[in-house]
Amino acid sequence: MKSLWTLNSYFWKYKWLLLSGIFFVVLSASFSVYPAIYVREAFDQVANAISNESNKLNSGLRKSLIIYGLLILAMSILKGFFTFLMRQTLIVMSRHIEYDLKNDIYDHYQKLDSSFLKNNSTGDLMNRISEDVSKVRMYLGPSLMYTINTAFATIITLVFMFSVDLKLSLLTLAPMPILVWSIYKVSGLINRRSHELQEQQSAISTLAQETFSGLRVLKSFGLEKEQTDRYAISANTSFKKNERLYRVNALFMPLLLLLVGLSTLIAVWIGGEGVIGGRLSPGVIAEFIYYVNLLTWPIASIGWVMSMVQRAEASMERINDFLKTKPKIKDHENVVHPDEIRGFINFKNVSFIYPENGKKAIIDLNLKIKAGETIVIVGKTGSGKTTFASLMNRMIEPTEGEIFIDDIEIKNISLKKLRSQIGTVPQDPFLFSDSIADNISFGCYEASLDQVKFYADLANLSSDIRGFSEGYDTLVGERGVTLSGGQKQRLSIARALIKKPRIVLFDDALSAVDTDTESKILSALKSELETVTTIIITQRLSAVHLADRILVFDKGHLVQQGNHLELLNSKGIYSDFYRLQNPETWNL
Ligand SMILES: Nc1ncnc2c1ncn2[C@@H]1O[C@H](COP(=O)(O)OP(=O)(O)OP(=O)(O)O)[C@@H](O)[C@H]1O
Ligand SMILES: [Mg+2]
Repeated sequence: MKSLWTLNSYFWKYKWLLLSGIFFVVLSASFSVYPAIYVREAFDQVANAISNESNKLNSGLRKSLIIYGLLILAMSILKGFFTFLMRQTLIVMSRHIEYDLKNDIYDHYQKLDSSFLKNNSTGDLMNRISEDVSKVRMYLGPSLMYTINTAFATIITLVFMFSVDLKLSLLTLAPMPILVWSIYKVSGLINRRSHELQEQQSAISTLAQETFSGLRVLKSFGLEKEQTDRYAISANTSFKKNERLYRVNALFMPLLLLLVGLSTLIAVWIGGEGVIGGRLSPGVIAEFIYYVNLLTWPIASIGWVMSMVQRAEASMERINDFLKTKPKIKDHENVVHPDEIRGFINFKNVSFIYPENGKKAIIDLNLKIKAGETIVIVGKTGSGKTTFASLMNRMIEPTEGEIFIDDIEIKNISLKKLRSQIGTVPQDPFLFSDSIADNISFGCYEASLDQVKFYADLANLSSDIRGFSEGYDTLVGERGVTLSGGQKQRLSIARALIKKPRIVLFDDALSAVDTDTESKILSALKSELETVTTIIITQRLSAVHLADRILVFDKGHLVQQGNHLELLNSKGIYSDFYRLQNPETWNL
């Protein structure tokens, strides 16, 4: 139960709903038990009338039976009313807590480092926020409600029963513990099997999701049939598991009815003996049958609640584990919030090793970049360029060494400030399923449409947008599927620039546009980004004429730096690169 204790703070937050809920439970339970007495009295009066064989009593009897009927009806209405209020308070409370819990988890997701997200599958993360939370809610709402209801209904019913006849009560109740035990066992089995089924279901959804997103690849490899077979196997397993589940499920009701039948049998038998012996009135039998029926659901719910609580506990443990995971990269207490960053960057002996695979991606990097300087970084694939960019905006932290911006170590600058001042265009741009305008103004919600248009123009995107039927309101589809690779990249550039950053980082941001468009964009940006520190990572050398300095990365090392002519004239990776990319230098 320990992991469920963490929910107490939420209970405390909604204490008034909880308390009024408990109050309504008590009322609803009381009104559900009370009619039993009227049932007994009505039966006794009828029995009396039959034994007296007097016709005079008929009208009086009819009258009092109608009164009993009305009383029972009134009680039922009151019970219904309070049951309604009970649900309105307790279930509503559980929905509130569910909402809070989901928000807390969601908030925590966004704080965690990218390394955490890499180590956990999307499916697993989605499960915590949906499946796990919903199981915890079942504990908070229905389980809690049934527990309180069962407790009160049972206590009140027992008091009523014992006050009528002790022996009859004990014997009638005898099968109840067996009922609780067997329902606990059956619900446990149902839970286990539905859990298996759920796992299978999520495997199917993962498979389906993968198929949808990888459909182009599948088609181009002609693997549709194989994929369909895989799906069929998965669906068949799910079908079998479903069958297994419903086999146990089918046991539930007969079991319940059997045991209720047993209690009713005892009530009639032993009660009947009491009536014959003159110890009990005939109405008592009817009263006890009423009690047995009344107790069935609450007592059956004990077994159900117990297995529900077990599941909620396991889920809460997973949620707690997750909420306890602390992001490594976060603001410490004394971070500064500089008004404006000038953009002087200084890497001192920086090395970075990916903890996931021990890969040394940056090795002993010493580098100073002046504010307003334009740097082009080139290097073969896997040479550490993207790692360099991630280090800059503190998505990862150096394993060794320090990084300074304007002589402040970046650890000491608030993350929000740092990232708002660095405009990053990532290597694989991500668009949200929203309009083009909203995707551009993403980094800067206060931006006007004119500003959006200005930056779209700067990124050479406006003529493309004019070609879309709904212009800036065109929806881009999930992840931007309706845009071409180059359009996505240019949109991503406009998005990075609209927040007017002091440092701009293009990670292969123009790899998907032709060289002609690339140089148009870069020239347009040149004047706009005059005073902004600009770092352009690229595989192509067409951008190098804009650079104040070119850096060459190789296997994590900064191996060469200088301007184009200097690098071209010294032997090394750069001149090889240049020759490879410029056929006119080849001696054909
Ligand atoms: N998340 C990661 N986990 C483990 N290793 C990684 C990760 N990202 C990159 N690496 C490794 O670090 C090295 C540098 O990768 P990086 O992405 O910085 O290269 P790059 O120069 O940007 O290459 P490209 O031009 O292909 O984008 C590579 O050997 C790569 O395998
Ligand atoms: Mg890269």
